[in-house]
Amino acid sequence: MVIEQDTHRERQTREMERPFAKDAPKDTLAALLTATHRDQLALCRSLEAIADSLPSHVDRAACLNAARALGPLISRAHDLEERLVFPAIEARHAISASIERLKYEHMEDVCFSEELHDALMAYGRGSPRPAPDAFGYMLRGFFEGLRRHIAFEQEIIVPLLEEDT
Ligand SMILES: [Fe+2]
Repeated sequence: MVIEQDTHRERQTREMERPFAKDAPKDTLAALLTATHRDQLALCRSLEAIADSLPSHVDRAACLNAARALGPLISRAHDLEERLVFPAIEARHAISASIERLKYEHMEDVCFSEELHDALMAYGRGSPRPAPDAFGYMLRGFFEGLRRHIAFEQEIIVPLLEEDT
């Protein structure tokens, strides 16, 4: 049973850390964006599992793995979108207000992820701060917001990218 849990956790970590360009089905912006979404959704599942395990069944290694993956994954996604995806969309479509909102949500995610990183590290090291209620609220606020953000990009941005290729 322990072996199965470790295998599952290792698989989740691999999913979160996979470079976006490496195994995308084809080298298009839509495929790259979808690949980063997949990685972020894997992280969301890990964060949700941690939230569900509060207050007394927290997997400390899962917290450390999520903390380690969080910053690099978020910055990789934002870099792809803000450097390549959004300029490509704005060049062809009148969608600036939505792009500005997405960029604003990126900034919020960066601020929130720094706070979340520290809390995940604290739980991973066995010194749980903030209190479980506050940690759970923080986790759910982050992954629910990120899932909504990704759903919008999948619904609106990916089809526009596919239309242009
Ligand atoms: Fe985004």
